[in-house]
Amino acid sequence: MKTDHINILAISGSTRKSSSNINLIKAIGLLTTESFSIRIFDGLTELPHFNPDLDYGQVPENEKVADFRKQLRDADAILICSPEYAVGVPGTLKNAIDWTVSTMEFSKKPVALITASTAGSRAHQSLLGTLLIIESKITEHTQLLISGIQAKLNSDFQITDGETLKQVNQLISSLKAIVKGEIQESELLPAPLPN
Ligand SMILES: Cc1cc2nc3c(=O)[nH]c(=O)nc-3n(C[C@H](O)[C@H](O)[C@H](O)COP(=O)(O)O)c2cc1C
Repeated sequence: MKTDHINILAISGSTRKSSSNINLIKAIGLLTTESFSIRIFDGLTELPHFNPDLDYGQVPENEKVADFRKQLRDADAILICSPEYAVGVPGTLKNAIDWTVSTMEFSKKPVALITASTAGSRAHQSLLGTLLIIESKITEHTQLLISGIQAKLNSDFQITDGETLKQVNQLISSLKAIVKGEIQESELLPAPLPN
């Protein structure tokens, strides 16, 4: 890991072996070899089901949860790439995020969110709302919906659709700008109003 690189923890909402979301993270890795060190979090399916009774401060912290929280804290920024499942956020990903609500690892953390799915808009809005309510730093340009992902990425981890490549490059630049403190507070997306 190069010391001048931005340390990114990447989380895929799909744990499928040939996941297009994991491949998209790898594609972003290839586009950012000069600036990002990307570590893909591989413990999503090993986290216990979230239960407030088991949460921080009440019993000794679960080892897997503690490791997840530490990896989030140690990262300069988080990249989340996820599909939509049954018009919602994949349960494993939402479960992982729920473990961070009380301990606030996402608070003030620069985050890029890509929903890469067949359609994906409903999961995208839902996940964006969740990330904003837990105080992630996200701008209009660090959130991106890629519908029809299967036709836009090849098996060599290359984004083959020109417009998508442009949007992903913009997302990368904007994430860097947040990490470097080059973004005004007013450019950050606001948290959704509580009901
Ligand atoms: C259980 C299940 C439910 C799905 N539901 C949706 C959906 O509601 N909307 C959508 O856009 N795609 C849906 N899909 C298709 C996924 O978006 C598509 O398979 C995507 O490529 C999965 O991401 P991955 O390649 O990273 O695993 C669903 C797939 C599965 C397996």
